[in-house]
Amino acid sequence: MSDPYLNFANSPIGRSVIERLGLPHPPVLERYSTHGSVFSSGSCLLGMSSTGTLMTHVAKIMAAQDNPVFAPDNDSVLKAALDTELNVRAASLELLSKEKFKTLVYDASGLSDTTALADLHRFFHPVMRQIAECGRVVILGCTPEKTASSAQRTAQRALEGFTRSLAKEVRKGATAQLIYVSPGAENLMESTLRFFLSPRCAYVSGQAVTINTSEHLTAVDWKAPLQGKVALVTGASRGIGAAIAEVLARDGAHVIGLDIPNAAMDLQALAQRIGGSSLPLDITDYQAPAQLTQFVLQHHHGLDIIVHNAGITRDKTLARMNQDLWNQVLNVNLISEERINDALLNAEAIRHNGRIICVSSISGIAGNLGQTNYSTSKAGVIGLVQSHAEAYAKAGITINAVAPGFIETQMTAAVPLAIREVGRRMNSMSQGGLPVDVAEAIAWFACPASSGLYGNVLRVCGQSFLGA
Ligand SMILES: NC(=O)c1ccc[n+]([C@@H]2O[C@H](COP(=O)([O-])OP(=O)(O)OC[C@H]3O[C@@H](n4cnc5c(N)ncnc54)[C@H](O)[C@@H]3O)[C@@H](O)[C@H]2O)c1
Repeated sequence: MSDPYLNFANSPIGRSVIERLGLPHPPVLERYSTHGSVFSSGSCLLGMSSTGTLMTHVAKIMAAQDNPVFAPDNDSVLKAALDTELNVRAASLELLSKEKFKTLVYDASGLSDTTALADLHRFFHPVMRQIAECGRVVILGCTPEKTASSAQRTAQRALEGFTRSLAKEVRKGATAQLIYVSPGAENLMESTLRFFLSPRCAYVSGQAVTINTSEHLTAVDWKAPLQGKVALVTGASRGIGAAIAEVLARDGAHVIGLDIPNAAMDLQALAQRIGGSSLPLDITDYQAPAQLTQFVLQHHHGLDIIVHNAGITRDKTLARMNQDLWNQVLNVNLISEERINDALLNAEAIRHNGRIICVSSISGIAGNLGQTNYSTSKAGVIGLVQSHAEAYAKAGITINAVAPGFIETQMTAAVPLAIREVGRRMNSMSQGGLPVDVAEAIAWFACPASSGLYGNVLRVCGQSFLGA
């Protein structure tokens, strides 16, 4: 669905009209357009607190890109980079005030007490006006629960507030994220840094994710990270599901698209387009989990990735909602996911270093009028992820969720115009996201190198004001 206001606001006449009236200006977001994972292109600025522990790992990753890299001239980054292939140029305050930076990475893992938080101000204050349009800021911290002292835990937890506010100040399509790295997980940062420093996270901002330890340290061809993998996507015939199928196929996976039998023709067309296969099935059918499991075992000897995307809304205030509307939503959005996971895991049909990715919603975080059934189901999805994450990770399988905000699809096209406009504008990007934005986040979770990511819930909502 198109957003006429976005087009108007970015036309020469529209820009001056909305400026005069003080209306929100939705920027044109840079999105990823070619194969593989690339960093946003433009100058990069690195910084760290004096006792940070992650910069050598960051420098090794950044050495794979060819943008110029700078660091403030008195910074420990220069020392950390000495051990790597990365060529870091020392930058004076004068240069920092002239150069525009497309990507900024700050290693805050060494902030060991609250007085050290002043380092954040020291680094970011001089460069806040130097962040390029659609720039990418990443702050690295140490997982608060895994710190050595309560003073460090307090300081590390404070990074979340800093990042979320920074994300609201960077503007013009720029984003800011916080990555908590647990001790021992330093080698598992690459897929996450590549995602957050690229146009692939166009509609993700103000998020905090945790990278845990994992025994799977997998080398990846970043041009086709899912090569050789088999992925199943539910609700794949249209909307977000179709975009997920397309992006996973773009990244090299064989994708099995699943949807209700009534959508079989669209599903078949999708399968042809992406060189995948189709499985018409209603996931709420009692036999569906067994049929699906049998299909993947028979045709592919198992699965590497399952994306639980199928979902429905049946909105009514609780006083007007009959039991059937409640049951329909819970059955599609939550109960069938649990049953399918159980069937696949019992049959050992998900291969080692496998991925389960669930689509929740910010309605499951913030709640929404007229959506008690939907919000219950989507909050339950988050519960499903969090309650199983540790145990599945021990078995070599990760489970994570994405929680989309307002995404332009047929589901949101059915929302009344006034509510639709509010949904589109009430976020830091002043616009709705596209299905591909959700799909890119799922492809990052699906990457074989993302083995340290489990139990995360990533909002793809342009930093929606709801439930923030
Ligand atoms: N669009 C948004 O703004 C938004 C926001 C938050 C979350 N979500 C979630 O994202 C997911 C996709 O949403 P969308 O906007 O693309 O919706 P959509 O209605 O366009 O697509 C949903 C797909 O799920 C399929 N489906 C429904 N019931 C099924 C069943 N019983 N068995 C198999 N397939 C079934 C439908 O046929 C459809 O193809 C849903 O889980 C939705 O709740 C969407």
